[in-house]
Amino acid sequence: MKFFEEKRREVMVHIEKFMLEKMNEYLKPIDTIWQPSDFLPDSSRDTFFNEIKELQESAQGLSYDLIAVLIGDTITEEALPTYESWLTMVEGVSRNEEGGWMKWTRHWTAEENRHGDLLNKYLYLSGRVDMRMMEISTQYLIADGFDIGTGHDPYRNFIYTSFQELATNVSHRRVASQAKKDGDTLLSKMCGVIASDEARHAKAYKYFIEKIFEVDPSEAMIAFEDMMRKKIVMPAHFLREVGLKIGQTFGHFTDAAQRLGIYTAIDYVDILKELIEDWHIESTTDLNEAGEKARDYIMNLPARLLRVADRMKNPMLEYKFTWING
Ligand SMILES: [Fe+2]
Ligand SMILES: [Fe+2]
Repeated sequence: MKFFEEKRREVMVHIEKFMLEKMNEYLKPIDTIWQPSDFLPDSSRDTFFNEIKELQESAQGLSYDLIAVLIGDTITEEALPTYESWLTMVEGVSRNEEGGWMKWTRHWTAEENRHGDLLNKYLYLSGRVDMRMMEISTQYLIADGFDIGTGHDPYRNFIYTSFQELATNVSHRRVASQAKKDGDTLLSKMCGVIASDEARHAKAYKYFIEKIFEVDPSEAMIAFEDMMRKKIVMPAHFLREVGLKIGQTFGHFTDAAQRLGIYTAIDYVDILKELIEDWHIESTTDLNEAGEKARDYIMNLPARLLRVADRMKNPMLEYKFTWING
């Protein structure tokens, strides 16, 4: 066990310099990147009330399921304190408070923080949401934390974040196009800019894993296999509403997403395929026996998952969320 952790720390030191070199590519300068207020009505101007009226009129066209998904996405973004505190516990990150990995974590958090901020303000202004109910769910989710099966292992964590940033990219992108169809161009723009942040973050985490594959292919492969065997759980899998037990709302949220085609079982497989391709899994050599087995398992997985996805029925139950008015 001692050896395992030492090796992980060594590899983190090794890839830190590559991360620092690329940081400006993967995170945008703070002074010039978009801010929530670029998209929201400006309360210091006398056009404010008219703008809110317009915002509410367009929000009226959004379907019930879309509002539900948007709230779930917002709460997921708002649980950022969980993700930041967990990243700092990853082996090799907090080795040095002023070190590169802590810098990455803080800057990534700062960029992510705008997502929940923007969506929350939009939902508040939209008039479609029981904000108190949503806020209770948010507080619960942060208090409940999550259990994503990565331990403190940087390999498993960065595989998870690679997957997760791609998943949030898909989901925000689809909400953007659905919102546009429903006639809400402002919301569509908002989700579009968030989606492009997520795409950039995905590139970063994929790059870290690519670098890990260069120096420790067998262990990286085994970590990938392990994460896929456990299945990548969504960060909001503990989602609940007032009076419910931990995780009891999550399935209803994912049902709505599946029904609308915002994030589906097929998307899960597509993301897996993308990672297999980007990390050149098929042509990775230099593996020990366990690494070879892990690679074979991963290579066979997309076809297996597709067969399962084919048999899945679209969820029919239209659940009444406490979050949504009327
Ligand atoms: Fe985000
Ligand atoms: Fe993200």
